[in-house]
Amino acid sequence: MSTDPSPFPNIEHVAESLADKGFVVIDNFLGEEQIQALHEAIAFHREEDNFRKAGIGNAHLFQVDKEVRGDYIKWISRGEARPATLFFMDRMEELMQSLSRSLFLSLKDYECHFAIYPPGTYYEKHLDQFKSTSNRKISFAFYLNREWQAGDGGELRLHLDEILDIEPLSGRLALFRSDTVEHEVLVTAKDRYSITGWMRDQPTNIPFY
Ligand code: OGA
Ligand code: NI
Repeated sequence: MSTDPSPFPNIEHVAESLADKGFVVIDNFLGEEQIQALHEAIAFHREEDNFRKAGIGNAHLFQVDKEVRGDYIKWISRGEARPATLFFMDRMEELMQSLSRSLFLSLKDYECHFAIYPPGTYYEKHLDQFKSTSNRKISFAFYLNREWQAGDGGELRLHLDEILDIEPLSGRLALFRSDTVEHEVLVTAKDRYSITGWMRDQPTNIPFY
């Protein structure tokens, strides 16, 4: 599990795109073998009944009656991570360190969770940074949907100057600024799998629930 054929992303391009446009999409962030192993990790956590309906932060306090997000999540911690998850985490750590240097962001740590959106679910338009999560600087979503086709839904919609829809294709990593980029997950027709996370300028305390 120590090798992966996919090349490490070009940091200059990634940093430039984040700085100029507020987002970047990196395809083939991991190879097929790693993705298969991450699916096995998800299957394992599913069997162990480790996924929980995701809650919402105080950005949505006034929307109690309405379903804001429909995903089920399992927070990832190094201590219990399997080799494939550790491989992903190491690559993410390296990316974070590089971006921290290139963008002068003083990024220290990141938190992430597996997410499953069952058919019919979505995540309403929101920002990932608000008062209680102001340490979140860069959001990322790594997609694990191997048989994704047009019409399956579940796109990540970024609200930039224009609207941009990003398909949640297997191996694709989307990064965007947590403080400025409003985004949503469009309703999905199929189970939608990802690892979602946030690079922070303060150490992380993984919330366990
Ligand atoms: C989130 C989120 C986007 C995605 O979990 O905050 O916006 O594409 N996820 O999964
Ligand atoms: Ni979000």
